[in-house]
Parts: sequence; structure tokens; C-alpha cells
Amino acid sequence: MRIDLQTAAERLKKGEVVAIPTETVYGLAARYDDLTAIQAVFDLKKRPASNPLIIHLPDPESIAFFVESVPKGFKELAETFWPGPMTLVLPIKEGSVPKTVTAGLNTQAFRVPDHPITEALLKMTGPLVAPSANLSGRPSAVDPSHVEEDFGIDFPVLDGGRCSQGVESTILIYHEGRWKAGRLGAIPLGAFAPLLGYTPALSIDSKKPLCPGQHFRHYAPRAKLSFHHDLKQAPAIIGFSGREYPADVPLFLLGTVQDPSKASYELYALLRSLDRQEIKEAWIDADLPEGELWETVRERLKKAASS
Ligand code: TXA
Ligand code: MG
Repeated sequence: MRIDLQTAAERLKKGEVVAIPTETVYGLAARYDDLTAIQAVFDLKKRPASNPLIIHLPDPESIAFFVESVPKGFKELAETFWPGPMTLVLPIKEGSVPKTVTAGLNTQAFRVPDHPITEALLKMTGPLVAPSANLSGRPSAVDPSHVEEDFGIDFPVLDGGRCSQGVESTILIYHEGRWKAGRLGAIPLGAFAPLLGYTPALSIDSKKPLCPGQHFRHYAPRAKLSFHHDLKQAPAIIGFSGREYPADVPLFLLGTVQDPSKASYELYALLRSLDRQEIKEAWIDADLPEGELWETVRERLKKAASS
């Protein structure tokens, strides 16, 4: 059910859960300080209680309520990339956020989303938790219809159109004196180097990732996915426009190899369209381009294929 800004604000203030648009993906929003609403978010998503939530702020200044002090580099990062698809994980004041939101950690993830409707909403409601608005394990939602696919046609969605970025925010975590990346995302890690003097190292492959969410199954359509260099026998293909593929095979195209932004914009809609078209198995063209945003696209496809 599509609802307008005023209705969304009223429902959220009353403690209801509403799907909201951001520039990355849709979020399943609730008041950050309403325990019942927070529990409803976990239940709706079937999200493990050990996976903490991001708090969305109306502006960078709102961080002051939650923290005693900020780590080195925070101010510059916030000034440059907020509002925008960057999440920063910070140590917080004891008791400023319910334990269910942090999953018991002494840190909290924050971001200021760059979407005009949600910016207006946050000004009306104050800080909101919002994990991606998909059932846990499924591809994220980049369009209201994707939210309705996972939560039903009657679920309230504040309609902000199609998300402009299409992949989630890049997560940076201040750890042992440096910013580390907990999740690849819409901002390539190299973009932080001019500001920090180093490129944040990615910490997702270790046994104990800084980001608890990296433990879990992610982004998977029902269709079985695998990577192949030889696509002659492919039942369906996820590939690139401008490349030669066998004739008469269903094709799902991420755009050209020159345009990683287009690939990230298309990614989740494409994965969801496999299921809409009842494709049981698709092969991914393993010859993926390298560099920048392609690393995020590759990581999402690998996760989608690994479940
Ligand atoms: O673009 C985005 O970030 C979207 C939109 C809706 O804002 N949100 C999103 O939320 O992707 P979610 O819940 O799907 O992913 C949040 C990730 C999870 O992997 C979680 O483990 C991690 O953030 N996270 C949350 N709090 C954390 C913390 N205190 N320390 C480390 N990682 C944390
Ligand atoms: Mg998610």
C-alpha cells in the first residue's frame, strides 16, 4: 500500500513499521527508541537478533545525542559524504540506543540518507532504524513493488520511486585507530583515500568480521546462480550488453562493462526478475570487469550465488 509523507510520519510516530525510500535501497523503518516497533522490524524481516540495525539521522549534527566524542576523520567523512551512501560505526554513550538495535555491541551504525522524501520524513520523526526492506537473505528492494513482493501488497510503503544507487551504503568502522570497511557499498573504498590519507582495508573475509551481517546469507533469489566463463550450456545468462551470448537463452543484462553505476542500479531488480520469470537457474558471465564499484557488484553476486 503506497502512503504519503504525512501518513508515513504519523504511523512511525505511533510506533508502526513503514518502508521508506533511500538513495541506496528501501529501508524497513521504525522509531529507534520504540522496543515494540524494533522487535516488529526483526520479526517482519525474519532477521537474526545478532544482526544490528543502522540508525538513519535527519542531519549529521543529530549524532551529538548518541556519542561522547567522535573518532579522528569522522568530521571530514561526514562533511564530505553525508547526506549519502556511507554508514559510519561509532562508539556510543551507554544507554543512548536500545540493546536490540545494537545487538548488544557498544557501537552503533549511523547514516544520513540522501533522498528528499526521507530527509523530510526524518525531520518530522527524528532518528529511525531501517535495515534493508527485504526478507532476510533475499535481494534488497530498490522499488516499492519489491517491498510488496516480500511483505505483501498491504504493507505500507512511502513511495520514493526507484532507488538511484541500487546497492547498499558502504560501511566504515573505526577500529584500532583506523577506519576499516565492514561492507563494500555504493561508494568505492578508493574514494575515501584523499580524505583519510589511506584506503580503508576491507575486513569482511576474516572469521570474525567487524560487521555481524557478513555472517549471514544474502541477496539470493530463488533461482540457483553460478559463475561460468563458458556459457554455451547456460540455462539463462546474467551478463553484459554488447557481448556475444548463445542465441535463444534468456538474457538478464547489467548494462555495459563500461558502466558500473548502471550495473549496481540494475542488480537487485535483475535478481528479483529471475524469480518473477520463474527462472530456476542462471549462469553469471564470470568475466566481470574489475575496479571501483565493480567490486561491490561482484561481492553481491558472489553472495547471491553462494547460498
Ligand atoms: O544502504 C543501506 O545501508 C541500507 C539503507 C536502508 O539505509 N540499509 C542496510 O541495512 O543495508 P541492513 O540492516 O540491511 O545492513 C546493515 C549492516 C548489517 O550488515 C549489520 O551487521 C551492519 O550494518 N551493522 C549494523 N550495526 C553495526 C555495528 N554496530 N557494527 C558493525 N556492523 C554493524
Ligand atoms: Mg540488508
